[in-house]
Amino acid sequence: ISTEKENGDLLSKSFQDIISTLPKGNPWGFPDHFLQYHGFWHSSVFLQGILSAQQQFQAQPADIILCSAPKTGTTWLKSLTYATITRTSYDDSTSPLLSKMPHDVVPFMELDHAHFSTHRDLGIPVLATHMPYSALPKSVTDSGCKIVYICRDPKDSFVSLYLFVSKYPKSENMQTFNLDEAFEQFCRGVCWYGPYWDHVLEFWKASLEHPDKILFLKYEEMSDDTILYVKRLAEFIGCPFSSEEEEKGVPEKIVKMCSFENLSNLEVNKNGKHRVRGMENANFFRKGKVGDWENWLTPEMAARLDQITMQKLSGSGLTL
Ligand code: A3P
Repeated sequence: ISTEKENGDLLSKSFQDIISTLPKGNPWGFPDHFLQYHGFWHSSVFLQGILSAQQQFQAQPADIILCSAPKTGTTWLKSLTYATITRTSYDDSTSPLLSKMPHDVVPFMELDHAHFSTHRDLGIPVLATHMPYSALPKSVTDSGCKIVYICRDPKDSFVSLYLFVSKYPKSENMQTFNLDEAFEQFCRGVCWYGPYWDHVLEFWKASLEHPDKILFLKYEEMSDDTILYVKRLAEFIGCPFSSEEEEKGVPEKIVKMCSFENLSNLEVNKNGKHRVRGMENANFFRKGKVGDWENWLTPEMAARLDQITMQKLSGSGLTL
């Protein structure tokens, strides 16, 4: 333990040295500036977690790493993956997902494992992160473990992100930050783990290079046919549904249990508090709809985001 502490002290000292040199960006009303590290913007807490994970996290070949930019469907992907993997231990009336928030059953690399020692206590080998592909700990890419990435229409991601940040607990010393200001920063790429488009593109390109290692999902397609994608997910992570399970409607039951309607109405997700900073779990379950941006963005704002998306993704073969 003392070595762990010494490592931690060393890490925070070198972290202070690193962050003092980094470009600073608009913090979306948070008290501390965002920091730009290797092309992506981070809060200092998350950046510290990234550096720590890069130094210490040892991936195993059987690990499954759920990757996403914030507000693109991480909570949903966590619950679907967890329910799929644990389906022989639990069913839709006994799953820990009924009493625990999805973020509490699948750990988050930057926070939960940021200050971890090399020991691993994952329970099931599933871990989530918002890190860009280029920032993933080397052991993740080297070990050949499976990566599942989810992305979403930037218009809905932005709206979801803005509304999430606006609900941060007041004790965080948040400054007011309006939609127009947030929009401007998002377009410039200054937001948690932004630029959003670069985040998506890195995983998209990697998924083309390593289709057997990276499954690339879109929130909209998942919403459209969740059962199809849950089957694809199960197959990709190495636990396909048997024909007997399909006959019994196991994939359908998982999809129903993990649906927005079901999860958002559970006591833990309605009234529980998130383990980080007293954030309410309910803030992770806002509306869960495709295209809600229409209620928040002017046609001009939408056109501007679409224009950036077209420009950034041009030639990549990806549309959002
Ligand atoms: P909205 O704000 O548009 O409602 P993340 O989990 O990456 O933080 O993303 C949050 C977004 O996913 C929110 O979008 C949230 O409502 C939505 N979401 C959460 N759980 C969901 C579920 N089970 N099914 C579909 N969407 C879900």
